[in-house]
Amino acid sequence: EYDATAFLPGRRAGLPGLRRAAAGCQGCPLYEDATQTVFGEGDTSARVLLLGEQPGDQEDRQGRPFVGPAGRVLERALADAGIDPDGTYVTNVVKHFKFTVPEGGRRRIHKAPSLREMTACRPWLEAELRVVRPEVVVALGSTAGKALLGSSFRVTEQRGALLPWPGLAGGEDGGSGGEADEAGEAVRGLVATIHPSAVLRADDRDAAYKGLVSDLRVAAGALD
Ligand code: URA
Repeated sequence: EYDATAFLPGRRAGLPGLRRAAAGCQGCPLYEDATQTVFGEGDTSARVLLLGEQPGDQEDRQGRPFVGPAGRVLERALADAGIDPDGTYVTNVVKHFKFTVPEGGRRRIHKAPSLREMTACRPWLEAELRVVRPEVVVALGSTAGKALLGSSFRVTEQRGALLPWPGLAGGEDGGSGGEADEAGEAVRGLVATIHPSAVLRADDRDAAYKGLVSDLRVAAGALD
């Protein structure tokens, strides 16, 4: 079974140690075609952890999360919601870019990660939560929501509310258990919203953007 666990450093590792170890992760086959691991980054003691799906094309090339078009939407939305982007930690459920190149094409087209890949990558997220100890976690889009709340998660139904933190150990999709309990200890709640890239694809971008900002305000409100 796919699993990143064997690639994790000792429990005392901080973010730099985790990042170095994650660079060599072969816990699932996605490392084979991706350029590099895209580990989370941001404020080590961030109060808000933002969780995306997986790196996109730009992120894969640059090795940093949310530096492409979706990242620009996210940055603006955070500012409009009153969340200082410098006070956040940004990461993804899956740390490698998954894509296909259509026959005769050159562009790399994003593919949604499978549950196996999400589960394999989970120890990295647990480790990030253990180190950063955020107060609020924001799930950006369906994959992030499903990773935290299970496969029955629906963005349309659960977005924009402060949900109780489900923990990472249990859940219908299984966590790695044990040590996972400690990851997210400090988390007070979870806010789900749409993925910023959905704003770019929406027919009514303005409405979609406003919805994203309004959901992020719920996360901001949970801090004070
Ligand atoms: N989309 C994501 O979910 N994560 C990124 O890092 C970039 C785009």
